[in-house]
Amino acid sequence: MHARASQLLALGLLALLAAGVSGALPGPFANEGGPSFINGATFLLDEAGGIVAVALVADDGYVAGIQSNGTLLAERGVYTSWECAADMPGYYRSLVQVTVTDPTGAVVDERTVCELGTMTDSENRWAQSETGCPTVTNRINRFFIPPAAIVGTHACPFASMMQGGDLDAPGRKLLQATCNIAALDQANRAAVPAGPSAQTAVDVAVRNIAKQIILFSTNRNAPGVGGPGTPNRAIRHGALLRQAFHDCGTYNKPARTGGCNGSLRTQSEVGAGVNANLVGTVALVQRYRQLINAEINRQIAAGKLPAGTAISYADTFQLTGAAAVVATGGPANLIDRVEMGRVDWATRSDDVSLLPARNQGFGTLACRFLAMGFTLRDLVALSAAHTLGAVNGRAMTPTPQTFDGSDYFQLVSRGTAAFRTDNALTDARTAQLVQRWSSSANRAELFSAFADSYIKMGRMNAFWRSYPQPAQYVRA
Ligand code: HEM
Repeated sequence: MHARASQLLALGLLALLAAGVSGALPGPFANEGGPSFINGATFLLDEAGGIVAVALVADDGYVAGIQSNGTLLAERGVYTSWECAADMPGYYRSLVQVTVTDPTGAVVDERTVCELGTMTDSENRWAQSETGCPTVTNRINRFFIPPAAIVGTHACPFASMMQGGDLDAPGRKLLQATCNIAALDQANRAAVPAGPSAQTAVDVAVRNIAKQIILFSTNRNAPGVGGPGTPNRAIRHGALLRQAFHDCGTYNKPARTGGCNGSLRTQSEVGAGVNANLVGTVALVQRYRQLINAEINRQIAAGKLPAGTAISYADTFQLTGAAAVVATGGPANLIDRVEMGRVDWATRSDDVSLLPARNQGFGTLACRFLAMGFTLRDLVALSAAHTLGAVNGRAMTPTPQTFDGSDYFQLVSRGTAAFRTDNALTDARTAQLVQRWSSSANRAELFSAFADSYIKMGRMNAFWRSYPQPAQYVRA
Protein backbone atom coordinates (compact mmCIF):
# COMPACT_ATOMS: atom_id res chain seq x y z
CA MET A 1 0.00 0.00 0.00
CA HIS A 2 2.69 2.41 0.98
CA ALA A 3 4.29 2.10 -2.40
CA ARG A 4 1.06 2.76 -4.16
CA ALA A 5 -0.03 5.78 -2.18
CA SER A 6 3.39 7.29 -2.36
CA GLN A 7 3.61 6.88 -6.06
CA LEU A 8 0.23 8.46 -6.57
CA LEU A 9 1.50 11.41 -4.71
CA ALA A 10 4.94 11.59 -6.21
CA LEU A 11 3.88 11.39 -9.80
CA GLY A 12 0.50 12.97 -9.52
CA LEU A 13 -2.55 10.87 -10.10
CA LEU A 14 -3.37 12.36 -13.44
CA ALA A 15 0.07 11.78 -14.83
CA LEU A 16 -0.19 8.21 -13.70
CA LEU A 17 -3.54 7.74 -15.34
CA ALA A 18 -2.43 9.40 -18.52
CA ALA A 19 0.57 7.13 -18.74
CA GLY A 20 -1.73 4.14 -19.05
CA VAL A 21 1.19 1.76 -18.73
CA SER A 22 0.45 -1.89 -19.13
CA GLY A 23 2.58 -4.97 -19.53
CA ALA A 24 3.33 -8.42 -18.25
CA LEU A 25 3.24 -8.85 -14.54
CA PRO A 26 4.78 -11.86 -12.87
CA GLY A 27 2.51 -14.76 -12.13
CA PRO A 28 1.11 -15.18 -8.63
CA PHE A 29 3.72 -15.42 -5.92
CA ALA A 30 4.07 -18.38 -3.59
CA ASN A 31 1.88 -17.11 -0.73
CA GLU A 32 -1.70 -15.97 -0.88
CA GLY A 33 -2.69 -12.53 0.39
CA GLY A 34 -0.02 -10.10 1.57
CA PRO A 35 2.78 -10.15 4.14
CA SER A 36 1.24 -9.81 7.57
CA PHE A 37 4.02 -7.67 8.99
CA ILE A 38 2.75 -4.63 7.17
CA ASN A 39 -0.45 -4.51 9.24
CA GLY A 40 -1.13 -1.23 10.96
CA ALA A 41 -1.99 2.39 10.43
CA THR A 42 0.29 4.29 8.12
CA PHE A 43 0.64 7.91 7.23
CA LEU A 44 2.12 9.56 4.21
CA LEU A 45 3.40 13.08 4.61
CA ASP A 46 4.05 15.54 1.85
CA GLU A 47 7.41 17.24 1.41
CA ALA A 48 6.58 19.74 4.07
CA GLY A 49 5.32 17.21 6.55
CA GLY A 50 1.59 17.72 6.02
CA ILE A 51 -0.46 14.55 6.17
CA VAL A 52 -1.68 13.73 2.70
CA ALA A 53 -2.67 10.13 3.10
CA VAL A 54 -3.70 7.90 5.92
CA ALA A 55 -4.09 4.21 5.39
CA LEU A 56 -5.11 1.17 7.32
CA VAL A 57 -3.25 -1.89 6.19
CA ALA A 58 -4.05 -5.54 6.78
CA ASP A 59 -2.28 -8.57 5.45
CA ASP A 60 -4.79 -8.98 2.66
CA GLY A 61 -5.05 -5.34 1.60
CA TYR A 62 -5.44 -1.76 2.60
CA VAL A 63 -7.78 1.21 2.49
CA ALA A 64 -6.25 4.64 2.07
CA GLY A 65 -7.35 8.23 1.81
CA ILE A 66 -5.31 10.18 -0.68
CA GLN A 67 -5.37 13.84 -1.45
CA SER A 68 -4.76 14.58 -5.09
CA ASN A 69 -4.97 18.16 -6.32
CA GLY A 70 -7.26 18.99 -3.43
CA THR A 71 -9.61 16.07 -4.06
CA LEU A 72 -10.00 13.29 -1.56
CA LEU A 73 -9.71 9.97 -3.32
CA ALA A 74 -10.19 6.59 -1.76
CA GLU A 75 -7.85 3.84 -2.72
CA ARG A 76 -8.41 0.21 -1.99
CA GLY A 77 -5.71 -2.33 -2.63
CA VAL A 78 -6.05 -6.06 -2.31
CA TYR A 79 -2.92 -8.15 -1.92
CA THR A 80 -3.38 -11.27 -3.95
CA SER A 81 -0.02 -13.01 -3.53
CA TRP A 82 3.43 -12.35 -2.15
CA GLU A 83 6.82 -13.83 -1.42
CA CYS A 84 10.20 -12.85 -0.06
CA ALA A 85 12.41 -11.23 -2.68
CA ALA A 86 15.19 -13.75 -3.16
CA ASP A 87 17.50 -11.17 -4.71
CA MET A 88 16.85 -8.52 -2.04
CA PRO A 89 17.04 -9.85 1.52
CA GLY A 90 14.56 -8.10 3.79
CA TYR A 91 12.16 -7.24 1.00
CA TYR A 92 8.94 -8.75 -0.21
CA ARG A 93 7.21 -8.64 -3.56
CA SER A 94 3.48 -8.81 -3.90
CA LEU A 95 0.77 -8.39 -6.48
CA VAL A 96 -1.85 -5.81 -5.57
CA GLN A 97 -5.17 -5.09 -7.23
CA VAL A 98 -5.73 -1.37 -6.90
CA THR A 99 -8.99 0.52 -7.23
CA VAL A 100 -9.20 4.28 -6.84
CA THR A 101 -12.55 6.00 -6.37
CA ASP A 102 -13.53 9.66 -6.26
CA PRO A 103 -15.78 11.24 -3.60
CA THR A 104 -18.89 10.16 -5.50
CA GLY A 105 -17.71 6.55 -5.43
CA ALA A 106 -16.97 6.46 -9.15
CA VAL A 107 -13.97 4.35 -10.08
CA VAL A 108 -11.24 6.54 -11.55
CA ASP A 109 -8.46 3.96 -11.78
CA GLU A 110 -8.15 0.23 -11.61
CA ARG A 111 -5.04 -1.82 -12.19
CA THR A 112 -2.80 -4.56 -10.86
CA VAL A 113 0.66 -3.61 -9.73
CA CYS A 114 3.65 -5.40 -8.35
CA GLU A 115 5.03 -3.95 -5.15
CA LEU A 116 8.51 -4.36 -3.76
CA GLY A 117 8.81 -3.12 -0.24
CA THR A 118 9.96 -3.40 3.31
CA MET A 119 9.51 -1.53 6.53
CA THR A 120 12.05 -0.98 9.25
CA ASP A 121 12.23 1.37 12.20
CA SER A 122 14.43 3.81 10.42
CA GLU A 123 13.40 3.70 6.84
CA ASN A 124 10.94 2.37 4.33
CA ARG A 125 12.00 1.43 0.88
CA TRP A 126 9.68 0.57 -1.90
CA ALA A 127 9.27 0.46 -5.59
CA GLN A 128 6.32 -0.40 -7.70
CA SER A 129 5.66 -1.28 -11.25
CA GLU A 130 2.92 -2.40 -13.54
CA THR A 131 5.29 -4.16 -15.92
CA GLY A 132 6.96 -6.73 -13.77
CA CYS A 133 8.41 -6.56 -10.31
CA PRO A 134 11.05 -3.92 -9.72
CA THR A 135 14.45 -4.52 -8.22
CA VAL A 136 15.42 -0.91 -7.51
CA THR A 137 14.05 0.81 -4.46
CA ASN A 138 13.46 4.39 -3.57
CA ARG A 139 13.76 5.62 -0.09
CA ILE A 140 10.73 7.18 1.58
CA ASN A 141 11.58 9.10 4.67
CA ARG A 142 8.19 10.52 5.12
CA PHE A 143 6.25 7.36 5.16
CA PHE A 144 6.15 5.63 8.44
CA ILE A 145 4.24 3.42 10.75
CA PRO A 146 4.20 3.85 14.51
CA PRO A 147 7.44 2.38 15.83
CA ALA A 148 5.51 0.56 18.52
CA ALA A 149 3.98 -1.50 15.75
CA ILE A 150 7.34 -2.65 14.44
CA VAL A 151 9.39 -5.27 16.21
CA GLY A 152 11.85 -7.91 15.17
CA THR A 153 14.80 -7.95 12.90
CA HIS A 154 12.95 -7.24 9.67
CA ALA A 155 14.71 -10.02 7.88
CA CYS A 156 12.71 -11.90 5.32
CA PRO A 157 11.24 -14.48 5.99
CA PHE A 158 8.88 -12.63 8.21
CA ALA A 159 8.51 -14.93 11.17
CA SER A 160 10.30 -12.42 13.37
CA MET A 161 8.41 -9.47 12.03
CA MET A 162 5.55 -7.67 13.53
CA GLN A 163 2.25 -9.42 13.60
CA GLY A 164 -1.04 -7.73 14.21
CA GLY A 165 -0.60 -4.02 14.66
CA ASP A 166 -3.34 -1.68 15.67
CA LEU A 167 -5.68 -2.55 12.87
CA ASP A 168 -9.06 -3.88 13.66
CA ALA A 169 -9.41 -5.89 10.47
CA PRO A 170 -13.17 -6.24 10.24
CA GLY A 171 -13.60 -2.62 11.16
CA ARG A 172 -11.30 -1.24 8.49
CA LYS A 173 -12.46 2.13 7.42
CA LEU A 174 -11.22 5.07 5.49
CA LEU A 175 -9.62 7.69 7.65
CA GLN A 176 -9.62 11.32 6.79
CA ALA A 177 -7.01 12.19 4.24
CA THR A 178 -6.00 15.32 6.06
CA CYS A 179 -5.64 15.45 9.81
CA ASN A 180 -8.66 16.37 11.85
CA ILE A 181 -7.50 19.82 12.84
CA ALA A 182 -10.16 20.47 15.46
CA ALA A 183 -9.72 17.10 17.15
CA LEU A 184 -5.93 17.25 17.21
CA ASP A 185 -5.97 20.80 18.51
CA GLN A 186 -8.27 19.72 21.31
CA ALA A 187 -6.17 16.67 22.13
CA ASN A 188 -2.92 18.63 22.12
CA ARG A 189 -4.34 21.24 24.47
CA ALA A 190 -4.84 18.50 27.00
CA ALA A 191 -1.46 16.83 26.48
CA VAL A 192 1.48 19.18 26.95
CA PRO A 193 4.78 17.45 26.12
CA ALA A 194 6.84 16.65 29.19
CA GLY A 195 9.94 18.61 30.09
CA PRO A 196 12.85 17.40 32.21
CA SER A 197 11.87 15.68 35.44
CA ALA A 198 14.24 17.86 37.48
CA GLN A 199 16.43 20.92 37.19
CA THR A 200 19.42 20.64 39.49
CA ALA A 201 21.60 23.43 40.87
CA VAL A 202 24.21 22.47 38.26
CA ASP A 203 21.65 22.81 35.45
CA VAL A 204 20.75 26.27 36.69
CA ALA A 205 24.42 27.23 37.05
CA VAL A 206 25.12 26.15 33.46
CA ARG A 207 22.17 28.21 32.24
CA ASN A 208 23.37 31.26 34.14
CA ILE A 209 26.85 30.98 32.67
CA ALA A 210 25.33 30.65 29.18
CA LYS A 211 23.03 33.59 29.81
CA GLN A 212 25.88 35.87 30.84
CA ILE A 213 28.00 34.91 27.84
CA ILE A 214 25.29 35.00 25.19
CA LEU A 215 23.65 38.18 26.40
CA PHE A 216 26.65 40.18 27.55
CA SER A 217 29.90 38.75 26.20
CA THR A 218 32.27 41.28 24.64
CA ASN A 219 34.37 38.58 22.97
CA ARG A 220 35.00 39.76 19.41
CA ASN A 221 34.37 36.34 17.92
CA ALA A 222 31.12 35.88 19.73
CA PRO A 223 29.77 39.18 20.93
CA GLY A 224 26.78 39.18 23.25
CA VAL A 225 23.42 39.64 21.58
CA GLY A 226 22.81 42.59 23.91
CA GLY A 227 21.31 42.90 27.34
CA PRO A 228 17.55 42.78 27.78
CA GLY A 229 15.92 45.26 25.44
CA THR A 230 19.24 46.47 24.01
CA PRO A 231 20.05 44.51 20.88
CA ASN A 232 23.60 44.44 19.59
CA ARG A 233 22.96 45.52 16.02
CA ALA A 234 25.85 43.50 14.66
CA ILE A 235 23.97 40.31 15.50
CA ARG A 236 21.25 38.73 13.35
CA HIS A 237 18.77 38.13 16.11
CA GLY A 238 16.16 36.76 13.74
CA ALA A 239 18.51 34.07 12.53
CA LEU A 240 19.41 33.12 16.11
CA LEU A 241 15.74 32.68 16.88
CA ARG A 242 15.13 30.76 13.69
CA GLN A 243 17.91 28.26 14.39
CA ALA A 244 16.27 27.35 17.71
CA PHE A 245 13.17 26.38 15.74
CA HIS A 246 15.12 24.56 13.07
CA ASP A 247 16.85 22.28 15.56
CA CYS A 248 13.46 21.20 16.94
CA GLY A 249 11.07 21.48 14.00
CA THR A 250 12.33 18.26 12.41
CA TYR A 251 10.36 16.30 14.99
CA ASN A 252 8.66 13.24 13.55
CA LYS A 253 6.48 12.19 16.44
CA PRO A 254 5.27 8.75 15.34
CA ALA A 255 8.78 7.74 14.30
CA ARG A 256 10.28 9.42 17.41
CA THR A 257 13.02 10.98 15.35
CA GLY A 258 14.18 14.55 14.94
CA GLY A 259 13.49 17.27 17.46
CA CYS A 260 15.74 19.27 19.77
CA ASN A 261 18.87 17.14 19.69
CA GLY A 262 21.57 19.54 18.51
CA SER A 263 21.71 17.96 15.06
CA LEU A 264 21.36 21.33 13.34
CA ARG A 265 25.13 21.52 13.81
CA THR A 266 25.68 18.65 11.36
CA GLN A 267 26.76 19.50 7.84
CA SER A 268 23.85 17.69 6.24
CA GLU A 269 21.37 19.87 8.14
CA VAL A 270 23.07 23.22 8.16
CA GLY A 271 24.13 22.65 4.56
CA ALA A 272 20.56 22.01 3.42
CA GLY A 273 18.86 24.67 1.33
CA VAL A 274 16.23 25.39 3.95
CA ASN A 275 18.98 26.37 6.39
CA ALA A 276 21.03 28.39 3.93
CA ASN A 277 20.58 31.63 5.84
CA LEU A 278 21.64 29.98 9.10
CA VAL A 279 25.16 28.87 8.20
CA GLY A 280 26.91 31.82 9.84
CA THR A 281 24.53 31.76 12.76
CA VAL A 282 25.16 28.11 13.56
CA ALA A 283 28.88 28.85 13.48
CA LEU A 284 28.27 31.69 15.92
CA VAL A 285 26.32 29.39 18.21
CA GLN A 286 29.26 26.97 18.15
CA ARG A 287 31.48 29.82 19.26
CA TYR A 288 29.12 30.71 22.11
CA ARG A 289 29.21 27.09 23.16
CA GLN A 290 33.00 27.09 23.24
CA LEU A 291 33.03 30.21 25.41
CA ILE A 292 30.39 28.74 27.72
CA ASN A 293 32.37 25.54 28.11
CA ALA A 294 35.57 27.50 28.74
CA GLU A 295 33.86 29.29 31.62
CA ILE A 296 32.39 26.01 32.87
CA ASN A 297 35.91 24.53 32.84
CA ARG A 298 37.17 27.46 34.90
CA GLN A 299 34.43 26.78 37.44
CA ILE A 300 35.23 23.06 37.45
CA ALA A 301 38.89 23.92 38.17
CA ALA A 302 37.72 26.16 41.02
CA GLY A 303 35.66 23.31 42.43
CA LYS A 304 32.36 25.09 41.78
CA LEU A 305 30.99 22.66 39.19
CA PRO A 306 31.36 18.89 38.89
CA ALA A 307 33.94 17.49 36.49
CA GLY A 308 32.58 16.48 33.10
CA THR A 309 30.08 19.31 32.87
CA ALA A 310 29.77 20.64 29.32
CA ILE A 311 26.77 22.30 27.71
CA SER A 312 25.03 20.44 24.88
CA TYR A 313 24.50 21.92 21.45
CA ALA A 314 20.78 21.35 21.82
CA ASP A 315 20.63 23.52 24.95
CA THR A 316 22.86 26.15 23.37
CA PHE A 317 20.55 26.45 20.35
CA GLN A 318 17.55 27.02 22.62
CA LEU A 319 19.37 29.47 24.87
CA THR A 320 20.70 31.58 22.00
CA GLY A 321 17.24 31.72 20.44
CA ALA A 322 15.75 32.86 23.74
CA ALA A 323 18.54 35.40 24.21
CA ALA A 324 17.71 36.93 20.83
CA VAL A 325 14.10 37.35 21.95
CA VAL A 326 15.09 38.91 25.27
CA ALA A 327 17.63 41.27 23.71
CA THR A 328 15.14 42.58 21.19
CA GLY A 329 12.51 43.39 23.79
CA GLY A 330 10.44 40.18 23.78
CA PRO A 331 9.34 38.32 26.90
CA ALA A 332 12.05 39.28 29.36
CA ASN A 333 12.18 36.09 31.38
CA LEU A 334 12.36 33.72 28.41
CA ILE A 335 16.01 32.78 28.76
CA ASP A 336 15.52 32.03 32.46
CA ARG A 337 12.68 29.70 31.57
CA VAL A 338 14.68 27.61 29.08
CA GLU A 339 14.89 24.12 30.49
CA MET A 340 18.32 22.52 30.63
CA GLY A 341 19.65 19.06 29.99
CA ARG A 342 18.89 18.17 26.36
CA VAL A 343 21.27 15.46 25.24
CA ASP A 344 22.86 15.76 21.80
CA TRP A 345 22.61 13.04 19.25
CA ALA A 346 26.16 12.10 18.42
CA THR A 347 26.07 11.86 14.68
CA ARG A 348 22.61 11.57 13.27
CA SER A 349 21.01 14.19 11.12
CA ASP A 350 17.30 14.84 10.96
CA ASP A 351 14.94 15.12 8.04
CA VAL A 352 14.94 18.84 7.28
CA SER A 353 12.16 18.38 4.75
CA LEU A 354 9.82 18.24 7.74
CA LEU A 355 10.47 21.92 8.42
CA PRO A 356 7.59 24.05 7.18
CA ALA A 357 7.87 25.65 3.76
CA ARG A 358 6.81 29.21 3.10
CA ASN A 359 4.20 28.41 0.47
CA GLN A 360 2.03 26.03 2.46
CA GLY A 361 -1.66 26.60 2.92
CA PHE A 362 -3.34 26.61 6.29
CA GLY A 363 -4.25 22.90 6.31
CA THR A 364 -0.75 21.62 5.60
CA LEU A 365 0.85 24.09 7.97
CA ALA A 366 -1.59 23.41 10.80
CA CYS A 367 -1.37 19.64 10.37
CA ARG A 368 2.41 19.74 10.51
CA PHE A 369 2.40 21.70 13.78
CA LEU A 370 -0.41 19.62 15.25
CA ALA A 371 1.46 16.45 14.30
CA MET A 372 4.33 17.59 16.50
CA GLY A 373 2.03 18.13 19.47
CA PHE A 374 1.52 21.88 19.16
CA THR A 375 -1.89 23.54 19.32
CA LEU A 376 -3.22 26.11 16.86
CA ARG A 377 -2.53 28.72 19.52
CA ASP A 378 1.12 27.59 19.59
CA LEU A 379 1.26 27.90 15.80
CA VAL A 380 0.01 31.47 15.87
CA ALA A 381 2.15 32.41 18.86
CA LEU A 382 5.34 30.93 17.40
CA SER A 383 4.69 32.58 14.06
CA ALA A 384 5.14 35.87 15.91
CA ALA A 385 8.85 35.08 15.58
CA HIS A 386 8.52 36.64 12.14
CA THR A 387 8.34 39.98 13.89
CA LEU A 388 12.15 39.73 13.78
CA GLY A 389 14.62 39.45 10.95
CA ALA A 390 14.69 39.60 7.22
CA VAL A 391 14.25 37.50 4.13
CA ASN A 392 16.54 38.15 1.17
CA GLY A 393 17.62 41.35 2.86
CA ARG A 394 14.04 42.60 3.16
CA ALA A 395 12.84 43.21 6.70
CA MET A 396 9.95 40.99 7.79
CA THR A 397 8.34 43.90 9.68
CA PRO A 398 8.93 47.65 9.96
CA THR A 399 11.08 47.06 13.07
CA PRO A 400 13.01 43.85 12.41
CA GLN A 401 15.32 44.32 15.40
CA THR A 402 12.44 44.70 17.85
CA PHE A 403 10.40 41.79 19.10
CA ASP A 404 7.11 43.58 18.87
CA GLY A 405 4.67 40.98 17.57
CA SER A 406 1.71 43.24 16.98
CA ASP A 407 3.41 44.70 13.89
CA TYR A 408 3.68 41.18 12.49
CA PHE A 409 0.02 40.36 13.14
CA GLN A 410 -1.06 43.64 11.56
CA LEU A 411 0.72 42.57 8.37
CA VAL A 412 -0.93 39.15 8.60
CA SER A 413 -4.37 40.77 8.99
CA ARG A 414 -3.78 42.73 5.81
CA GLY A 415 -2.39 39.71 3.98
CA THR A 416 0.95 41.45 3.48
CA ALA A 417 3.22 39.43 5.77
CA ALA A 418 6.27 37.79 4.19
CA PHE A 419 4.98 34.29 3.48
CA ARG A 420 1.83 32.48 2.45
CA THR A 421 2.06 30.56 5.75
CA ASP A 422 1.95 33.85 7.67
CA ASN A 423 -1.05 35.16 5.80
CA ALA A 424 -2.77 31.77 6.08
CA LEU A 425 -3.23 32.49 9.78
CA THR A 426 -6.26 34.59 8.87
CA ASP A 427 -8.03 31.25 8.49
CA ALA A 428 -11.27 31.23 10.49
CA ARG A 429 -9.73 28.86 13.04
CA THR A 430 -6.95 31.26 14.00
CA ALA A 431 -8.22 34.67 12.85
CA GLN A 432 -9.38 35.64 16.30
CA LEU A 433 -5.90 35.27 17.76
CA VAL A 434 -4.40 37.22 14.86
CA GLN A 435 -6.92 39.95 15.52
CA ARG A 436 -6.22 40.03 19.29
CA TRP A 437 -2.47 39.99 18.94
CA SER A 438 -2.37 42.64 16.26
CA SER A 439 -3.26 45.10 18.98
CA SER A 440 -0.35 46.24 21.13
CA ALA A 441 -2.84 46.44 24.01
CA ASN A 442 -2.66 42.63 24.12
CA ARG A 443 1.11 42.43 24.02
CA ALA A 444 1.45 40.90 27.49
CA GLU A 445 -0.87 38.08 26.47
CA LEU A 446 1.05 37.49 23.24
CA PHE A 447 4.41 37.51 25.02
CA SER A 448 3.19 35.01 27.56
CA ALA A 449 1.75 32.77 24.82
CA PHE A 450 4.96 33.02 22.78
CA ALA A 451 7.12 32.16 25.79
CA ASP A 452 4.94 29.15 26.68
CA SER A 453 5.04 27.88 23.11
CA TYR A 454 8.79 28.44 22.86
CA ILE A 455 9.33 26.31 25.96
CA LYS A 456 7.05 23.66 24.48
CA MET A 457 9.03 23.82 21.23
CA GLY A 458 12.22 23.16 23.20
CA ARG A 459 10.73 19.93 24.50
CA MET A 460 10.09 18.34 21.11
CA ASN A 461 11.59 14.86 21.35
CA ALA A 462 14.24 16.14 23.75
CA PHE A 463 16.11 13.48 25.69
CA TRP A 464 16.91 14.90 29.12
CA ARG A 465 19.80 14.34 31.51
CA SER A 466 20.86 16.79 34.19
CA TYR A 467 24.40 18.13 33.99
CA PRO A 468 27.00 16.79 33.98
CA GLN A 469 25.87 14.58 31.13
CA PRO A 470 28.22 11.60 30.95
CA ALA A 471 29.48 10.95 27.46
CA GLN A 472 27.62 7.66 27.25
CA TYR A 473 24.35 9.56 27.15
CA VAL A 474 25.25 11.00 23.79
CA ARG A 475 22.96 9.09 21.51
CA ALA A 476 24.58 7.48 18.53
C1 HEM B 1 5.08 28.61 10.62
C2 HEM B 1 5.89 28.11 9.72
C3 HEM B 1 7.16 28.79 9.31
C4 HEM B 1 7.59 28.97 8.05
C5 HEM B 1 6.93 28.48 6.80
C6 HEM B 1 8.82 29.71 8.12
C7 HEM B 1 9.58 30.06 7.03
C8 HEM B 1 10.61 30.98 7.06
C9 HEM B 1 11.36 31.41 5.93
C10 HEM B 1 11.17 30.89 4.52
C11 HEM B 1 12.24 32.34 6.33
C12 HEM B 1 13.23 33.14 5.45
C13 HEM B 1 14.55 32.45 5.43
C14 HEM B 1 15.52 33.04 4.45
O1 HEM B 1 15.88 34.22 4.56
O2 HEM B 1 15.94 32.32 3.55
C15 HEM B 1 12.02 32.51 7.73
C16 HEM B 1 12.69 33.37 8.50
C17 HEM B 1 12.58 33.42 9.86
N1 HEM B 1 11.89 32.52 10.64
FE1 HEM B 1 10.46 31.28 10.03
N2 HEM B 1 9.09 29.97 9.42
C18 HEM B 1 8.11 29.41 10.19
C19 HEM B 1 8.05 29.38 11.55
C20 HEM B 1 8.99 29.96 12.36
C21 HEM B 1 9.12 29.74 13.76
C22 HEM B 1 8.23 28.80 14.58
C23 HEM B 1 10.14 30.50 14.19
C24 HEM B 1 10.72 30.63 15.56
C25 HEM B 1 10.09 30.35 16.68
C26 HEM B 1 10.64 31.21 13.03
C27 HEM B 1 11.62 32.16 13.04
C28 HEM B 1 12.06 32.86 11.94
C29 HEM B 1 12.86 34.06 12.01
C30 HEM B 1 13.18 34.82 13.26
C31 HEM B 1 13.21 34.40 10.70
C32 HEM B 1 14.09 35.56 10.23
C33 HEM B 1 15.49 35.01 10.06
C34 HEM B 1 16.54 36.03 9.69
O3 HEM B 1 16.40 37.21 9.97
O4 HEM B 1 17.56 35.63 9.11
N3 HEM B 1 9.95 30.82 11.94
N4 HEM B 1 11.05 31.64 8.15
